[in-house]
Amino acid sequence: MYPTGTLRIHELTSEELAVYATLKPECIPQHVAIIMDGNGRWAGHRSLKRFLGHQQGANAVQLVTETASRIGLPWLTLYAFSLENNLRRPRAEVNFLMRLLKTYLESNVGRMMDNNVRMKYIGRTHELPPEVQDKMRWAEDATANNTGTTLTLALNYGGRSEIVDAFRSLAAEMKITHTSPDCITEEDIHRHLYTAHMPDPDLLIRTSGEMRLSNYLLWQIAYTEIFVTERLWPDFRGIHLLEAIADFQRRERRYGGLGEGSGAVDEEAERIKIATG
Ligand code: FPP
Repeated sequence: MYPTGTLRIHELTSEELAVYATLKPECIPQHVAIIMDGNGRWAGHRSLKRFLGHQQGANAVQLVTETASRIGLPWLTLYAFSLENNLRRPRAEVNFLMRLLKTYLESNVGRMMDNNVRMKYIGRTHELPPEVQDKMRWAEDATANNTGTTLTLALNYGGRSEIVDAFRSLAAEMKITHTSPDCITEEDIHRHLYTAHMPDPDLLIRTSGEMRLSNYLLWQIAYTEIFVTERLWPDFRGIHLLEAIADFQRRERRYGGLGEGSGAVDEEAERIKIATG
């Protein structure tokens, strides 16, 4: 499928263009999800306070989003703040992340407009501070008519709690419609996820080298290709997104089936072999 939105390839840097030239434009993924990790380590390596790592991380969010919009990537979903971050980080860091999010939205909605980016959120966002929720709604409304990349920020998000919320909402629906549990399908569960309006990610990128999913989009990534880079999130740029997409395009996606040249069994030949012993 071709990417949606208007391509703005001429706005890529010359380095990005060199990587983009190696891509098959008709095979750009529909949806890239990213676990942005390593802000703290980035700061630590420079003997800086952790909050400076988060600040640089927010800068990387904007730059990567803009490259995504230039290549017409339809969906970009970033893990910006997990339920676990909210529960387990010191209050001062959580408060800083909330202030950073607010400032980020205030200062970047103009750039989102210039880049035709639509903003959305997933997660238990109703538990965030009211002034942050107000700013989120403001940014979402301001960008609602944009038709390029949809940037979804996962905020106060957890994959398991998303599934719990989906089951609660499905159970409520079933009570009203008097539906038997035997009738539940995968499609029903999909309809009740926060991500019901978007395709599942084709590619999941994780920065800073950890080999784990950290409770991110657990239902949705059943067949997603995973790309892990040692690079810390504040150093991640559009060119690295393009490199990850190039790697993705070299993969063969099989969805549990057989790939090309897999030596698929010729049933007739096998039957004859079995019959003749
Ligand atoms: C992990 O770094 C990153 C996060 C806590 C979430 C990502 C947050 C940002 C990119 C900044 C704000 C984003 C927006 C949209 C304004 P870490 O602290 O876990 O790093 P570490 O594992 O090296 O300590």
